[in-house]
Parts: sequence; C-alpha cells; structure tokens
Amino acid sequence: MTEITGAVEQGNDAELALDGSDAAISIRGLTKRFGNITAVNQISLDIKKGELFGLLGANGAGKSTIIKMLTTMLTPTEGEARVWGHDVVKERNLVRSSIGVVFQDPAVDGMLTGRENLDFHGRMYGMDGELRKKRIEEVLELVDLVEKADEKLEEYSGGMQRRLEIARGLMHYPHVLFLDEPTLGLDAQTRRYIWQYIRNMNEEKGVTIILTTHYMEEADSLCDRVAIIDNGKIVALDTPENLKDEIGSDTISLDVQSGAEALMQSLRPISWIKSIIANNGTIELMVDHAQSRIPEVMQQANRCCAKITSVGLHEPTLEDVFLKYTGRKIRETGSHANSMVARMHMRHG
Ligand SMILES: Nc1ncnc2c1ncn2[C@@H]1O[C@H](COP(=O)(O)OP(=O)(O)O)[C@@H](O)[C@H]1O
Ligand SMILES: [Mg+2]
Repeated sequence: MTEITGAVEQGNDAELALDGSDAAISIRGLTKRFGNITAVNQISLDIKKGELFGLLGANGAGKSTIIKMLTTMLTPTEGEARVWGHDVVKERNLVRSSIGVVFQDPAVDGMLTGRENLDFHGRMYGMDGELRKKRIEEVLELVDLVEKADEKLEEYSGGMQRRLEIARGLMHYPHVLFLDEPTLGLDAQTRRYIWQYIRNMNEEKGVTIILTTHYMEEADSLCDRVAIIDNGKIVALDTPENLKDEIGSDTISLDVQSGAEALMQSLRPISWIKSIIANNGTIELMVDHAQSRIPEVMQQANRCCAKITSVGLHEPTLEDVFLKYTGRKIRETGSHANSMVARMHMRHG
C-alpha cells in the first residue's frame, strides 16, 4: 500500500495552478535590498509549466537571491511572486511542497550514504515508509546512482554529489525544480552528463526547471528560454536562438598578406555578402551560413591572386548577446569553445 501524506499529497499528477493559468511561476516587481545594495531590482517574469528556464548572469548579478526568494528562503523587500499558484510570502508551506531545490552551496551530509540522505529528506517531507522506499529507487535510477547508493557521500566525486542533490530535490515529486549553478566547478564532461539528467527530468518527467548559471554554453544548450540578469535586472529575455539572431550574421575574417584591394573589388558584387570591412590587413565579411561560403571566398582569392594567411569564422554566441546587453564579457574560462568555429592557417610555398 502506498499512502501519501501531508506535504506530498499532490503527488506527481497534481492539478494545474490555482489561478488556472499556465504559469508555473509568476513574478511581479520582485525586489530585494540588503542595506543599500539592491541585489534584485523590480523583476517581472512568467515561467511556463514544463519550461526549462535559465537565469544567466555574472557573479553577483542577483541570481541566487532570486532563487532564494522564490524558494521562500528570503523575504522580498518589494513585489510579489507565485510558484505553482502559491504566494511565496503568504503560502510558504504550499510553495515548499510544490518545489525541489538544489542550492549553490552543497547541503548534503557526507557521513550518510546516498540512500540515507534521500531517506532523511523523504521523512522531512512526511513521506510514508513505502512510498519513500519506492521513490528512493526511482530517483536513484534517474541520476544513475543505484550502484553507489550505499556508499557514504564523502566518498562520492563532485559530480556524483551534485547528482545526489538533484535526486534529493526530486524526492517529494515537486512540480518545479530549482537548480542554482548545478554544474559549478565540475569538469566539462561531468557537466554534460548532468545536462543530460536535467533534460530527462524536464522532457520525460515533465518537471518545470529553473536553473541559474554563468556558463554561456549551459544556458544555450539546455534552456528553452534565457533571462540575462545584470545588476539585479532582466536585461534580455528570449530563446537562445532568438537572442543570437538579434546579434546578426556570421563573420568570416580573412588575414590578407597581399592583394587585399583586388580581393575587395572581386567580393563587392557578391550578393550574399552583407557587408565588407577592411582593417589593417584583415577583411571581415558579414554573411549568413558562413561555413558553406568559405570555399567560394577562397576561390575569389585565388582568382585575383590575393594571399590569405588565415581564415576565421565567428558565429554569434550567447557571449556576444551578453556583451551587447551588459557591455561586458562574463568572467569565465572555457566559454569560448564554440565561438571560434574555425581558424585555419594557410601555407604558402
Ligand atoms: N545576505 C546578504 N547580505 C548582503 N548582501 C548580499 C547578501 N546576499 C547577496 N548579497 C549581495 O547581493 C548581490 C547579488 O548576490 P547573489 O544573488 O548571490 O548573486 P549571484 O547568485 O548572481 O552571484 C551581490 O552584490 C551580493 O554581494
Ligand atoms: Mg549565486
């Protein structure tokens, strides 16, 4: 017999939000001040049921403060927010029973085994013994930790600990899962595994997910929509594709050793080249679908005997979007992996 009690009585197939809308989260004028620091400044936003939504921003942008207000850990200074139809100030308990949270700073007990950690969490949520047991196996399977379940957490790798935390966040069948920097400090491969678990939970289990990150690639590859947060404000909000499209075309850049003028003359009439900029021995061409255009550009160069020493290709990334809206690059290493798709050096004999 599985009897569901107390906080988890909504189970997995709960009714839609009380207000009948399809918003999993609605935020209006949400503000948090610490003394004279305004960490979150008048944020308004709706997140749809089933969405995988990203808050992207640099360190100190206000992401964790937003998550803490939505998860009832901090009281807003101004404004309001509803999570699964419940007010984060007036209906804290209802909010808490609707959500799972993985905070930025790890909060698991290293002396307990994975299974014990999950069991403890289930008890906290008033889950009945049999349901707890069944759910522990389910969430362990979701994050591929069945075989490690009886080892102490202090023996887990960083990635495994993070997976266990995600499993714990899912124990009580939350509608909405909050992940604050879920892959912070993990290596690139582990990060990709975690992305896969996050995707599965969203696509297969239908869990609405809000995550924060300062990794451009993470926001780009995972999220249905992304809000760029800067100084406590939303400065841009859209799908990653639309945000990148706004930046414009791809750029092919050519380092030209000689014959630049002739090459410019021969490229100018080509209709698919949207603009040509020459600067200090470099020619930059704005085009769409740059990759497929490179051979033709090289043919033109051969035809007019221009000597090209290197060819670069740049497709707009979220990094470009971030730069456009904040005027800064996000301080981070390893985010440029996808931005320079090709930089080929030419040999001349
Ligand atoms: N408890 C606090 N007391 C004072 N200032 C805080 C507190 N929590 C956060 N802040 C400040 O609020 C701003 C936003 O912080 P935070 O939400 O942690 O940003 P993020 O998660 O995007 O890195 C920062 O300037 C931070 O120093
Ligand atoms: Mg943070």
